[in-house]
Amino acid sequence: MATTILGTGSYLPENIVSNDDLAKYMDTSDEWISSRTGIRFRHISNKETAAEIAYYAAASALKHSGILAENIDLIIAATITPDCLTPSMSCILQEKLGAVNAVCFDINAACSGFIFAMNTAHMYLQAGMARYALVLGVEVLSSILDWTDRSTCVLFGDGAGAAVLGPGEYGIQDFIMGSDGSHGKALLCSGRPLRNLYSNEEAANPYVHMDGQAVFRFAVRQVPECIEQLLKRSSISIHEIKYFVLHQANIRIIQSVAKRLQVNIEKFPMNISECANTSSASIPILLAELDKEGKLQRGDKIILSGFGGGLTWGAVLIEW
Ligand code: COA
Repeated sequence: MATTILGTGSYLPENIVSNDDLAKYMDTSDEWISSRTGIRFRHISNKETAAEIAYYAAASALKHSGILAENIDLIIAATITPDCLTPSMSCILQEKLGAVNAVCFDINAACSGFIFAMNTAHMYLQAGMARYALVLGVEVLSSILDWTDRSTCVLFGDGAGAAVLGPGEYGIQDFIMGSDGSHGKALLCSGRPLRNLYSNEEAANPYVHMDGQAVFRFAVRQVPECIEQLLKRSSISIHEIKYFVLHQANIRIIQSVAKRLQVNIEKFPMNISECANTSSASIPILLAELDKEGKLQRGDKIILSGFGGGLTWGAVLIEW
């Protein structure tokens, strides 16, 4: 039995913020942001918590899958912006959904998080450790941005996307994941300082700091390489792939990947203009949109690929 995606769902906070809105608070412009990134709008929570955003996405995925919450054996949330360090996002979600039989834990792999969560759940299913799993990417990145740093805060947004996985005829064919901790500082958000009876460390800057050009170079090299490896291993021609659903970080990264792979850009669906970079949530949000719009037919081959903080990257080949 394959691991099939039985249902998808997503949620974006109600508050929509345009580039012009941001220009009222900082020295930036719609022209600068949209020409360099493709971003025009982002959703920024002014009331929903990460757990609420996750709940709306998860409830929608469950509804579409037809699987009851109590039949979910495993919940894996990918996030770098949970409401609490403990309980995990997945445990909070378990309670909200009434998924009383699920084992729950979170994964931190930044913008590759959903791919890592999906692959982990896939392995649980294939090992017979779970029958139905709920995986999601959820972020309230607006809570870890320095709103005085125009070079980072304009790039990100909040949101969540989810998928229910279970046994079926079609589904996940193969995947690749990778990490390079030696370049982790290119995309950094520090945690708490060491403060206890014996140490009184100064708090580091607790906001996202990024070497944008280094991350750009990493992405345009690593993503095509990883997709080519996956195709080679699966003995599938690139022409058989209907869509490449990439992490939505920057339109120029996606265009560059398409060019390097020599694939028409139309095979790279995008929503970056409306959502900006929602880290682990971007791939499942886009996937849910494609699903909802009826763009995915049974048997279509698609590749999902994420990349980002860690540094991390990954790709998964799915027969829909
Ligand atoms: N509005 C206006 N000007 C801005 C600005 C903003 N929001 N942010 C930065 N600038 C200015 C800088 O201060 C700099 O000015 P200076 O030349 O006077 O010093 C100038 O624009 C160029 O900055 P630079 O950082 O060199 O721009 P860039 O062309 O590299 O583009 C990114 C910056 C972030 C758009 C680009 O590097 C990028 O997309 N990187 C990938 C980031 C990413 O996607 N990360 C997530 C991966 S998961």
